[in-house]
Amino acid sequence: MAAEENQQTATVIGQGYVGLPLAQAICAVGVKVYGYEISTSRVEALNSGTSHIDDLSDDELRGMISEGYEASSSPGVIAEADFIVICVPTPLDEGGGPDLRAVEAATRTIADHLKPGATVLLESTTYPGTTEDVVLPILEGGGNVHGRDFFLAFSPERVDPGSSSYGITNTPKLVGGITAIATARATAFYEQFVDTVVPLSGAKEAETAKLLENTYRHVNIALVNEMARFCHDLDINIWEVIRGAATKPFGFQKFTPGPGVGGHCIPIDPNYLSFQVKKTLGYQFRFVELAQEVNNSMPQYVGSRISDLLNEQGKPLNGAKILLLGVTYKPDIADQRESPAVPVAKVLRQKKADVTFHDPLVEEWRLEGGNLHRVEDLDSAITNADIVVLLQHHRDYDIDALALKAKVFFDTRGGASNGNNVHRL
Ligand SMILES: NC(=O)c1ccc[n+]([C@@H]2O[C@H](COP(=O)([O-])OP(=O)(O)OC[C@H]3O[C@@H](n4cnc5c(N)ncnc54)[C@H](O)[C@@H]3O)[C@@H](O)[C@H]2O)c1
Repeated sequence: MAAEENQQTATVIGQGYVGLPLAQAICAVGVKVYGYEISTSRVEALNSGTSHIDDLSDDELRGMISEGYEASSSPGVIAEADFIVICVPTPLDEGGGPDLRAVEAATRTIADHLKPGATVLLESTTYPGTTEDVVLPILEGGGNVHGRDFFLAFSPERVDPGSSSYGITNTPKLVGGITAIATARATAFYEQFVDTVVPLSGAKEAETAKLLENTYRHVNIALVNEMARFCHDLDINIWEVIRGAATKPFGFQKFTPGPGVGGHCIPIDPNYLSFQVKKTLGYQFRFVELAQEVNNSMPQYVGSRISDLLNEQGKPLNGAKILLLGVTYKPDIADQRESPAVPVAKVLRQKKADVTFHDPLVEEWRLEGGNLHRVEDLDSAITNADIVVLLQHHRDYDIDALALKAKVFFDTRGGASNGNNVHRL
């Protein structure tokens, strides 16, 4: 279905966790939306009404299609767009630096198909300077001139997957353009479907704001993780400590310990910042490195606590029946990317424990060294396990009811009430 006369057209590049919900939000305000995607199987699934994203149901996708949404692998859909939003992956490369190949490839495709006057928006998380130093030269490489033929801005994706309180519309959107006019154009675009758009002075400031947010979380999670360890050794209940501190109405934001950090953002994004600081200035961003060290050590620490709890029952890890509950990186979503459950399972399997798992949202848990068995009968698996370890507190889990049935219940999320068999991180 082509755009109606005078109807704005937007093409969202990359139809993953970020791009597809964004396409939905843009569709909802009557803009013609194309989802440009290199994976042809993903394009086929999307056009047949099958969503691969937790936050977007098949029914919602079919609603988008009826409003004119179309997924495509043909760059022709870029040539029609007044607004082009880049939402492709920015993983880390083997050396721990940012891998911008997808951003560069997407930008080259855009450069070859740019409609005169189009506004290009980069949403992929990346290091400060990417919009100006990487994306802009590629777009201008074909002879197009910024400010005359196109406009460019950065606007970080900030959405919290699985959140029922905050989505695209009510999460304020930062925008920083290459020029003031680019910022104004980008702001006007987002204001159509986001309640609050906050223009910043430039693209670098918008890029760095996103990294500050995620580094702040990373560092504060590391702070409580480190405190959890020494509080345990000092016989201080960290959960009570946090409950108390969190009553302060100013100057404190609550973070809780856990088995590590996961997902696509928190374990990865701060690296972009430390990479850039080191590369351009030659010194370390010490907070990031320390936070990484502490957070990355948590799966091993969880393994050692499990080993201690088994030891108290006179059992070695070797051959112990260990049931892991909840293996996703966040509660109530199926996303397993970078989940700390993976290194926890690895540590336990290395010690030859008999590890099984249950997760209401995960049917098959793919792991290096072979998949773990998913228990179907949760009640009997809990009764049979030497130790039950709660790694993720999904809302479907009635923690206290589950803990009651366990011989030993180790809660890494702090939701369980006290009980003789209950131990918390
Ligand atoms: N997932 C999140 O919660 C989240 C939150 C904030 C920011 N981000 C950032 O947003 C960006 C996208 O992340 P995501 O989670 O949506 O990734 P994703 O892997 O879910 O989706 C990316 C999609 O882009 C496609 N793609 C790759 N190269 C392409 C190209 N050259 N042209 C067209 N399509 C291409 C892939 O096939 C895939 O479908 C990343 O930079 C990420 O850091 C993600």
